[in-house]
Amino acid sequence: MTGLEVIPRSPAILAPHEGESPRLQAELLLAHVLALPRLRLYLDFERVLTEPELERMRALVQRRGAREPLQYVLGTTSFCGREFRLTPAVLIPRPETEQLAEHAGQFLTGLGDRPVAVLDFGTGSGCLAISLALRLPNAIVHALDVSVEALEVARENAALHGVSDRIRFHAGDGLGALPPELRFQLVVANPPYIPTAEIATLAPEVRDYEPRTALDGGPDGLESVRRLAADTPPFLAAEGRLWLELGDGQAGPARDLFERAGWQVNEVLPDLAQRPRFLTAVHPPHDR
Ligand SMILES: C[S@@+](CC[C@H](N)C(=O)[O-])C[C@H]1O[C@@H](n2cnc3c(N)ncnc32)[C@H](O)[C@@H]1O
Repeated sequence: MTGLEVIPRSPAILAPHEGESPRLQAELLLAHVLALPRLRLYLDFERVLTEPELERMRALVQRRGAREPLQYVLGTTSFCGREFRLTPAVLIPRPETEQLAEHAGQFLTGLGDRPVAVLDFGTGSGCLAISLALRLPNAIVHALDVSVEALEVARENAALHGVSDRIRFHAGDGLGALPPELRFQLVVANPPYIPTAEIATLAPEVRDYEPRTALDGGPDGLESVRRLAADTPPFLAAEGRLWLELGDGQAGPARDLFERAGWQVNEVLPDLAQRPRFLTAVHPPHDR
């Protein structure tokens, strides 16, 4: 069987899923099996696939057919124009988080080229930490996650992008796991923010495959946000700033809880769908 024959057969299994073109998915899976860039398939469509290649293709199509996200099946995704490795231990980075990386990067760029320390709370694949380290050669980025398996993926991605020497990895639950003497010019976070009861209503790709610790924000979705508001101030440098991603509908309650915790909320900015999703705040100097 040739690539040209395999591609139209696979969409029958991939078809029921929304959002992604079945043909594109089949092409990406075949390109993965053949270790070729997808566009090269068009030059090689007449090549007869070997039995092991067909077997691998069938296995990948079946995984995707069982609603495993394409990015886990491929083991990679793109974030801020770069490739990141993924396993089911980490959240699949979302396009809106690229906006968070941009806001945070702009803030850091505005500080000039002096040395800065950054904390990425809940680093997952390391997409934010690594993108910021690549953009700011003067930054040391601390990447914290409660999941040791996620940190392994983040370490692998840091090595892939050549920034291992400027990223410090910390395993632990919340900022209390960090050395208390650390001070950050920027704390960036895309915390788990889905209300627990909503998780069961999500698409199977998310509900059944993405790590619960990356999704579950507690009863109102704001558990991690509340902890960040309470625990971050002692770790901020004098001019330190927080940049945070929020779920849809959380901007109002998040602003209230930050202000009650003594923060000054500078801005809440919209995502591409014009929903308020990115909160940035400062906290007056804090006595430890
Ligand atoms: C929504 S994911 C974000 C991952 C990545 N930063 C991104 O934007 O794609 C949240 C991450 O926070 C981590 N996490 C959840 N609770 C945590 C806690 N209390 N302390 C440290 N990390 C936590 C999860 O393991 C997960 O990797």
